[in-house]
Amino acid sequence: MDKLTYAGNLESLKEIENDPNYKFVKGDIASAKDVERAIDEGVDKIINYAAETHVDRSIISPDAFIKTDIFGTYTLLEAVKKYRVAQYIQISTDEVFGSVKNGSFTEESPFAPNSPYSASKAGADHLCRAYFKTYNLPIMVTHSCNVFGLNAHPEKMIPLFITNLLEGKKVPLYGQGQQVREWIFAQDHCAAIETIIEKGQSGEVYNIGTGFEKTNLETTKFILQEMRLGEDKIEYIKDRLGHDWRYAINSQKLRGLGWQPGVSWEEGLRRTIKWYQENETWWKCIKSGDYLEYYRNQYGKKN
Ligand code: TYD
Repeated sequence: MDKLTYAGNLESLKEIENDPNYKFVKGDIASAKDVERAIDEGVDKIINYAAETHVDRSIISPDAFIKTDIFGTYTLLEAVKKYRVAQYIQISTDEVFGSVKNGSFTEESPFAPNSPYSASKAGADHLCRAYFKTYNLPIMVTHSCNVFGLNAHPEKMIPLFITNLLEGKKVPLYGQGQQVREWIFAQDHCAAIETIIEKGQSGEVYNIGTGFEKTNLETTKFILQEMRLGEDKIEYIKDRLGHDWRYAINSQKLRGLGWQPGVSWEEGLRRTIKWYQENETWWKCIKSGDYLEYYRNQYGKKN
């Protein structure tokens, strides 16, 4: 189920379009009617990836974040209660813990969100906790480090930088690029969710992390090197407001269930760069703002 906002793209699901295990429902998680319509299709588990996610957009316009991330989660939790859904997993972020100078966040670390985005996710996570405690519903929450990989919207740092370079442009690095992020390849994140579906316990929280910690400058330099370009392509720009210095997450609890990352940061980045090199039409439409028209031409009749 997806609302198909600017960030959604059915083109990314083309490969599984005819898979008998896949059915697409266009809808908004903040609409009880849409959620109930989706559940009527025969749903036993809900994994809630749906959210407004981009920090910079939340700084400019927090409204959609409150509606989708908080109210949307509330709507889904109400549906879990009403329809006795067998399992609900809330996909959340390490950003709810705020910034950490040394060490890493555990599942017990207190929430200290710093952006409207992370505050909206923290609000939703609190609702999940409350619905477990109050109604004893089968709810789990995950906190992941930064995800990167194929098909990611070019608003995020890694795909933005790769596609800018493919277009011959510079890459806008905030501040001095010294902020630290921990990175996970999307496929590894999916494997982590699979482990949690199979082995996780209701009411529990699981951190998803790799230990692949890099400054934004290190990530930028690696991309430049892989694309055989020089550091003159870096444009240092004004820092993001309230920019969190460092995220780092302790994932021992999840590793205890048998999960571990399978793709290194370097290998993940190489695969990501290759994908953007080979899928120019996909990201060019999105970047040029023509995506909606493109989408309507391709899929408009289907939904
Ligand atoms: P981003 O991909 O937006 O993820 P998040 O804010 O959730 O960590 O940003 C990753 C890092 O890259 C973050 O420290 C901000 C930085 N960044 C830039 O330096 N320039 C950019 O244009 C963007 C989008 C991000």
